[in-house]
Amino acid sequence: MDVIEAINSRYSVRAFKSDPVPRKVLEELLGFSLRAPSWANTQTWALAVAGGDVMKDLKETMASRAFAQDERGPDIPRPEWLSPYRERRKENGLRLYELLGIRRDDVEKQLNWFVQMYRFFDAPNAIFIFTERDVSVWAMMNVGLLAQTISLAALNYGLGSIMLAAGASYPDIVRRKLNIPHAKQLIISMAIGYPDPDAPVNKFRTERVPLGEICSWHGL
Ligand SMILES: Cc1cc2nc3c(=O)[nH]c(=O)nc-3n(C[C@H](O)[C@H](O)[C@H](O)COP(=O)(O)O)c2cc1C
Repeated sequence: MDVIEAINSRYSVRAFKSDPVPRKVLEELLGFSLRAPSWANTQTWALAVAGGDVMKDLKETMASRAFAQDERGPDIPRPEWLSPYRERRKENGLRLYELLGIRRDDVEKQLNWFVQMYRFFDAPNAIFIFTERDVSVWAMMNVGLLAQTISLAALNYGLGSIMLAAGASYPDIVRRKLNIPHAKQLIISMAIGYPDPDAPVNKFRTERVPLGEICSWHGL
């Protein structure tokens, strides 16, 4: 697949077929993705991949914590977005709710949708990206580059994905179930699988602020 085509066709997938992704497909995909750049090739990342019964257990545990609205304790504090990001975030949520037919006063449907995030939208697999705890903030950039490389490379295998801060909200559960030492902090999770083409939510597409509004040009 052409790189530009991949960039343009990627979107956050929020409904998956139940078919598991074969381990060798995930291994190949992640192997290629490790070509992502990092500061001085420091490769400040560690990955954990969940599937099968482990995945089922993980998502049920996280979903019940989310349903109970247990306080989240992510290793990376959740952001307080200021204007104009706060408005963009709100608009994104409202557009998604509109597509899903969730009214602004329908608390029950909103909670169900919220919980779906913690179920990794029922994807068969999840990828968790960690760094060491005492590491430069630049390691976050490295992780971001790896995550985006994974999401683009996934398209080559007919796979779709979504990065999920939600799935990194209860890092202690992830560490306990996947036997990851406390020395590793969970930066981001990803749900990955074969997209369900019939799910209305997978028709959701997001816009971008035009280049002219966020880019200045100098000497050209
Ligand atoms: C760091 C990060 C965390 C995200 N966390 C969530 C999440 O918890 N729940 C969710 O539904 N989408 C999440 N997303 C997906 C974004 O909402 C999505 O990327 C954005 O709306 C742009 O849409 P697109 O990916 O379809 O182009 C996350 C994306 C990033 C980069």
